[in-house]
Amino acid sequence: MKVFALATQKGGVGKTSTTVNFASSLALAGGRVLVVDLDPQSQAGAALGVNLIGEDQLARSLGWALQARLQGMRMPMPDIWFDRTELLEDFGGQGTLHLLASEESTMTAAQDLIHKKGFQSTPILRRMLLEAAEHFDFVVIDTPPAVSSLSATALAAADYVLTVCVPEYPALKGAAATRGTVRYVKDRTNGECDPQYLGVVLNRSNPPSKWKGQEVNIRNGMLEAGLNPFQRDVRTDNRISDSFAYGTPAVIRFASHAPGKIYAELMHQVLARTTQPEEKWEMPERIEPVEDARSSDE
Ligand SMILES: Nc1ncnc2c1ncn2[C@@H]1O[C@H](COP(=O)(O)OP(=O)(O)O)[C@@H](O)[C@H]1O
Ligand SMILES: [Mg+2]
Repeated sequence: MKVFALATQKGGVGKTSTTVNFASSLALAGGRVLVVDLDPQSQAGAALGVNLIGEDQLARSLGWALQARLQGMRMPMPDIWFDRTELLEDFGGQGTLHLLASEESTMTAAQDLIHKKGFQSTPILRRMLLEAAEHFDFVVIDTPPAVSSLSATALAAADYVLTVCVPEYPALKGAAATRGTVRYVKDRTNGECDPQYLGVVLNRSNPPSKWKGQEVNIRNGMLEAGLNPFQRDVRTDNRISDSFAYGTPAVIRFASHAPGKIYAELMHQVLARTTQPEEKWEMPERIEPVEDARSSDE
């Protein structure tokens, strides 16, 4: 089982879109995949067609399960996860897709409890996932857009950390900050958790003909900051945003069109890094900054 966490301090850059589409690509390729929604805003669940509403549903939320565990009770994971494999039914593959769903009140309460218990409770999610390792080939964790006990829990749970950036300066800062945080996880968990930083996905990118100075600087900045950009970036595409409303990720709705192809390529590049030493990782070339009249209007 390989556990990926998608994290960055900047909100709105596409963590959730990347999580659900990357996870779905893995499942379409035949993987047994679990999506873990750690964001109290529950958008990953919504993108997979699950909304926890009503008292009777709260006991199936990940926030509830985390609180129970922090208080010494264990919930069997198969009792709470949602099987979303039906989303893959048109494809006839071997893959499966499950979700540990978030819900705002229970997740916020879990966040407070983890915070109160201090850093020794940070490995809680990792321990939970390891108990379910026989069921899954891949786990993909979506995180909230802030430095919080929940994002610390996600990084600690991960074997690999991915971050997401858009072609805007604050997003580059947010990704770099997250990359820095990954380095401290091992010490802070007394060696129990040891995530590897894998790379940054550039999301909502533009075709080269539309690059302004800022986009060129961000592309080069990702290399210079040691963020290890992937060669495949994800262009702005309304099919990706519209798919949230359908509860089915774009790579499933448009499997044989651009969204499906782009995320499949990204998936291969991500997986390649999990099996190769860092010095072999392929990265995009540095771009020569051009004096560009269009950049003056920023
Ligand atoms: N490549 C893309 N093309 C078009 N819209 C996108 C793309 N990636 C994300 N979005 C949209 O941008 C918004 C923020 O994305 P989201 O994945 O929710 O970010 P985050 O989880 O980092 O807050 C959402 O409305 C989403 O649909
Ligand atoms: Mg999100």
